[in-house]
Amino acid sequence: MRKLFLMTIIVLTAMAALVAFAGDHPEATEATEATEATEATEATALPEDITIDACADTKAAVEFPHKAHFEYATCVDCHHTSEGLTAETAADMEVATCMSCHLEPEEAETPKCSEKSTKKNPYHINCIGCHKTYLKEHEDSSAPKKCAACHPKPAE
Ligand code: HEC
Ligand code: HEC
Ligand code: HEC
Ligand code: HEC
Repeated sequence: MRKLFLMTIIVLTAMAALVAFAGDHPEATEATEATEATEATEATALPEDITIDACADTKAAVEFPHKAHFEYATCVDCHHTSEGLTAETAADMEVATCMSCHLEPEEAETPKCSEKSTKKNPYHINCIGCHKTYLKEHEDSSAPKKCAACHPKPAE
């Protein structure tokens, strides 16, 4: 577990270094532009922050600091159908989005992202479930559990 964590840090640091390097060279030639395109693909493969909005209807879209969460759970804890997914294997795997199964689920019992209930929405079960457990032991934690903390009220 500790080894895996260290590997994750090493991989993330390497990626950050690559991105920083690309950023330092705006006067890129065609050849480096091609390299940047490859890096961009890698960056998309492991998104840093994600706006979850495929179901946003009555509530505002939710900002999710994805990479920050690599510290709190394994990839498979959340990507529960992606067997063998780790920061290392991600580049060689197709990672199905939650939405591909939870937007219009085949089975009526499968949690659906348009649900308001804490027990029927896959994100409410996953996100709020973990935050509540964590808050029990870390009272000063910033893990959000109030509606408006995840669905900010739109400015009027
Ligand atoms: C930890 C973050 C989090 C908290 C706290 C949270 N939600 Fe959500 N909620 C989400 C996410 C993520 C989605 C999926 C959004 C999407 O796919 O567009 C969602 C979806 C929804 C939806 C369906 C989409 C829509 O816009 O109609 C409703 C309704 C909703 N939440 C209501 C609530 C209410 C009410 C509360 C408080 C009791 C709450 N949420 C608390 C993260 C959260
Ligand atoms: C706390 C939960 C959580 C953890 C931990 C987590 N992810 Fe994610 N990941 C998500 C959510 C939520 C999305 C957005 C999916 C959606 O919108 O349907 C996502 C999106 C992704 C995507 C983009 C999929 C696409 O095609 O848009 C990849 C790739 C990914 N995660 C890989 C990983 C890897 C690799 C790890 C472990 C190092 C990991 N995730 C850890 C919740 C998590
Ligand atoms: C390939 C389809 C698929 C993908 C991708 C997928 N799910 Fe699911 N999920 C399901 C199905 C089917 C169920 C209901 C049966 C079950 O529990 O396995 C489910 C159940 C769940 C549950 C309820 C588990 C419980 O104990 O009640 C949660 C929470 C959940 N998914 C969250 C997520 C999140 C978050 C993601 C993305 C990070 C995700 N799912 C990706 C198909 C998928
Ligand atoms: C396995 C546990 C777990 C899951 C699942 C999880 N989180 Fe978290 N989340 C945490 C912890 C732990 C923290 C940070 C606690 C701290 O630093 O005080 C956190 C913090 C956050 C924060 C605040 C970040 C900040 O800058 O303070 C947001 C926003 C957030 N989570 C959104 C989500 C959303 C949206 C989901 C579902 C897609 C989710 N989380 C799923 C454990 C989890």
